[in-house]
Amino acid sequence: MKSVLAIYPGSFDPVTNGHLDLIERATKMFDRLVVAVLRNSEKDPLFTTAERVEMLREVTKPWDNVEVDLFEGLLVQYAVQRKAQVILRGIRAISDYEYELQMALMNRRLEPQIETVFMMPGESYSYLSSSLVREISRLGGQIKGLVPPVVEQRLKAKGF
Ligand code: PNS
Repeated sequence: MKSVLAIYPGSFDPVTNGHLDLIERATKMFDRLVVAVLRNSEKDPLFTTAERVEMLREVTKPWDNVEVDLFEGLLVQYAVQRKAQVILRGIRAISDYEYELQMALMNRRLEPQIETVFMMPGESYSYLSSSLVREISRLGGQIKGLVPPVVEQRLKAKGF
């Protein structure tokens, strides 16, 4: 039988419990999952790409079929290079859909053989995003329960 490799791309600045929920669901659907961090995606990142990769490696340790990698340039080129069949994206709410649809269709135009698959995280994560986590921690708010403990510790170490 064919073994399906899925790429789960993103900025992951930082990884949240919503991302982790999606990763856990995806480990059951795909034979292998590569969590791919876009190198230098943000102008003003909270964590360096190396730090994001380290945290992702730590929190994905429980799954043998998950790998964490870095990519730069076009996502579809990276997916072809990795011989992936699927690009995985999470959709939390209708507001995500328009942008995600646009990206998925553009990626399909660029590489028709790669399918984008959308999955929904658990509903308790539907309002959670890395950008809100960054803002809340910058402003001294409580982020317990929104991110894995290792991210919480890293935020504290940065003085948040
Ligand atoms: O977590 P994010 O920031 O929403 O992830 C966005 C990401 C990394 C998936 C997207 O920006 C991306 O694929 N960037 C790589 C460049 C690329 O392929 N652009 C064309 C998209 S149609």
